[in-house]
Amino acid sequence: MVQIFLDSADIEEIKEARRAGILDGVTTNPSLIKKAVEKYKNENPRLDLEQYIKDLLIICKGKPVSLEVIGNTFEEMINEGVVLFKRFNKVAKNVYVKIPINPCMEKECTNYSDGIKAIKYLSSHKIPVNCTLILTPEQALLAAKSGARFVSPFIGREDDYIREINKIKFKKEDYFTSEGIKIGRKILDDNSIVSGINLLKEIVEIFRINKIKSKVLAASVRNKRQFREAALAGADIITVPYSVYKELLTHEKTAEGMKKFTEDVVEEYKNLLR
Ligand code: E4P
Repeated sequence: MVQIFLDSADIEEIKEARRAGILDGVTTNPSLIKKAVEKYKNENPRLDLEQYIKDLLIICKGKPVSLEVIGNTFEEMINEGVVLFKRFNKVAKNVYVKIPINPCMEKECTNYSDGIKAIKYLSSHKIPVNCTLILTPEQALLAAKSGARFVSPFIGREDDYIREINKIKFKKEDYFTSEGIKIGRKILDDNSIVSGINLLKEIVEIFRINKIKSKVLAASVRNKRQFREAALAGADIITVPYSVYKELLTHEKTAEGMKKFTEDVVEEYKNLLR
């Protein structure tokens, strides 16, 4: 069964999903931590982030929680990975260290293989790794080959990229057809990948052919239709922001039906349920 993770560092959102009983894990990143810190610092200016993360891990006991490194060299990433794991894994034994597939911030740089080196190092030291920022099937294959337990294709950002390079205006939550966008006779692509779901499908297929054990974690999911397509594509895990999690349960006719059924309850039936 496909697993559902929450893509959030917001403890209230995580608690709520945990209470609903469908939460299989959590993914965070520095941007999500920033968002949570800003929110909770408003309530408590002396927020202790270490304790906050520990509380979050306890709420998720038995479910993997990914915490990301911030460095961009091999040494920085392995040192931070070890620190994160040592500091936090003792709390609930559920920490996965998130390592970018390639820490370069420019197209040309010298540290392009530091991500896979860090994955290999941490994995061989029994620290489970979630390899993040995957935008090509090739990156996914190398992440898995280096030992990543989770490999995270950013399917929404792949759609963004295809729209951006073709100067198409869109809102973050806009649906992007999994077959790609056709302009004239040409389907827009990124090195023959036509959508985030197409990227995901190719990774799932490569892992199947190669009998790769790493789990494919569909990340950067923007709406419920993309969630469904990710499940159909064979993702092992889908991580969703809280807004998409709520969308998964919502339909106008469900609400309308609820209203009508509630209005139609007769006293005799009500009495039977007491
Ligand atoms: C995954 O682990 C990332 O935190 C995340 O899915 C990124 O999503 P975004 O593209 O919506 O920021």
